[in-house]
Amino acid sequence: MTSASTGAVHPIPPARWPDAAEAAGSALFSPLSIGPLESRTRTWVPAMVPWRCSSEGLVGADIIDWYGRFADGRPGVLVVEATGIRDVPSGPLMRIGHERFEAGLAELVAEVRKRSAGETLVFLQLIDFLAVKRRPTREDYLRRFLTITDRHREGLEQGGTDEEVREALLALPHEELCALLTEREVRDLEMGYRETVNDTHLPHIADLPRRLPGLFADAAQRARAAGFDGVELHLAHAYTMASFLSPRNRRTDGYGGDRQGRHRLPLEALSAVRARVGGDLAVGCRILGDEAIEGGGRIDDACAAACDLAAGGMDWISVSKGGKFEDARQPRVGEAVYPYTGPSGLECMPTVRVSGPPPFGRNLPLARAVRRALRAAGHAIPVVGAGGMNSFELCERALSEGDCDLVGAARQSLADPDWWRKMELGLGTDIRRCAYTNYCEGLDQKHAQVTCRLWDRDFSAPDPGGGKPARSSDGKRRLLPPPWERDD
Ligand SMILES: Cc1cc2nc3c(=O)[nH]c(=O)nc-3n(C[C@H](O)[C@H](O)[C@H](O)COP(=O)(O)O)c2cc1C
Ligand code: SF4
Repeated sequence: MTSASTGAVHPIPPARWPDAAEAAGSALFSPLSIGPLESRTRTWVPAMVPWRCSSEGLVGADIIDWYGRFADGRPGVLVVEATGIRDVPSGPLMRIGHERFEAGLAELVAEVRKRSAGETLVFLQLIDFLAVKRRPTREDYLRRFLTITDRHREGLEQGGTDEEVREALLALPHEELCALLTEREVRDLEMGYRETVNDTHLPHIADLPRRLPGLFADAAQRARAAGFDGVELHLAHAYTMASFLSPRNRRTDGYGGDRQGRHRLPLEALSAVRARVGGDLAVGCRILGDEAIEGGGRIDDACAAACDLAAGGMDWISVSKGGKFEDARQPRVGEAVYPYTGPSGLECMPTVRVSGPPPFGRNLPLARAVRRALRAAGHAIPVVGAGGMNSFELCERALSEGDCDLVGAARQSLADPDWWRKMELGLGTDIRRCAYTNYCEGLDQKHAQVTCRLWDRDFSAPDPGGGKPARSSDGKRRLLPPPWERDD
């Protein structure tokens, strides 16, 4: 089902780059309608969180420079990172849960327009996520967090106060302790407390279907006010909406169980967004073609969801894979579990060490199946494919063979944001090619400012605009890819 990392390394295949005339006649550099808009090319930078907003989630110079740098490469579409729709503290993750975030976001949009000479459409990915706490020490968990129940007393075969029961549990060897705890309690102890959509005993989780459509609509309205061309509802990976779509959603309130129930909340969120922003803002989504976990959704679930979402009015569907909490690596004490550390995480961002097929275009069969299902159901909306897309030929083949309508490249664009433009101008030999070893993802895991190992220690060139290279908070890395020094 999922694949682990192996010692073997898939080599980066050599690439043949087009000259300018071939690029001009290619599918990749041809236009495409996306809802009410037209993308100049079929090139797409998917959302990537770089952890560069202020600790209050506000846009500042660092993040404006960051997206400006991606805009230099003039992709058809640039999707700005997963952005929290609630007004709650979330560290340096971008936020849009209040009007005060609009002004900064508007500056970011203006920078993208300027740096791309108006050639790049800029979308904002909207995300909701549930509480995840750091893994506690055994003592903290048993003395402070565990709710003592009759099950614990019966298991210990002793009565006494809660404090006495806690001390008795603390004295047990680990395996005996785990045998007395529920599955959920063991997870909270070993991985840290984490809420799921099935926790309907918690009023705020029971209430998600009433709260979320309005929150997504408010966020979309603010995104439109800030000047974004579109919003991408994040229905993928480890987050709230993907969990509603998942067969692991066991809610019995009409928002879980069968497919109709599981699709209901994302569709209601879409309707609320549409009702608020009308037809002039493009509205699409990112889904999982395969959750890549035990009991998770597979491609047939994804195809069914895609068809319902298209019928509900989505302007595009971007297809990703995996990235779940359920199989994530155990975090160290004091750290929080991270959804890209297990086998499903590797499926989401495959490296050159992945077992089975190499990472290059590895997830295209999922996009292809979703696209076929959409077409068979009469939906013409574009599908975005991503995962290891790193050469002209790979992109061209994916488009001409019907795997996808737009080609997403995240890490290759991080390694070289100018790569699209270099390709289009016939200067592909200048491209700095991603090594797919996930140094960037390691930084993301630590919520450190994301950079690429191919350029972050190279201080020889100034920042775009001529200033001294801006450095990461630890002072060791440059924050922006060096400018492209053209020879022609
Ligand atoms: C540093 C980093 C941050 C990411 N953040 C997001 C995100 O905010 N939203 C999202 O849907 N995917 C996110 N992804 C996944 C990428 O969009 C993409 O699907 C994945 O990296 C596979 O594509 P690639 O092989 O072209 O990198 C992130 C990936 C990386 C490397
Ligand atoms: S750090 Fe590695 S995997 Fe990430 S973009 Fe750079 S070369 Fe690619």
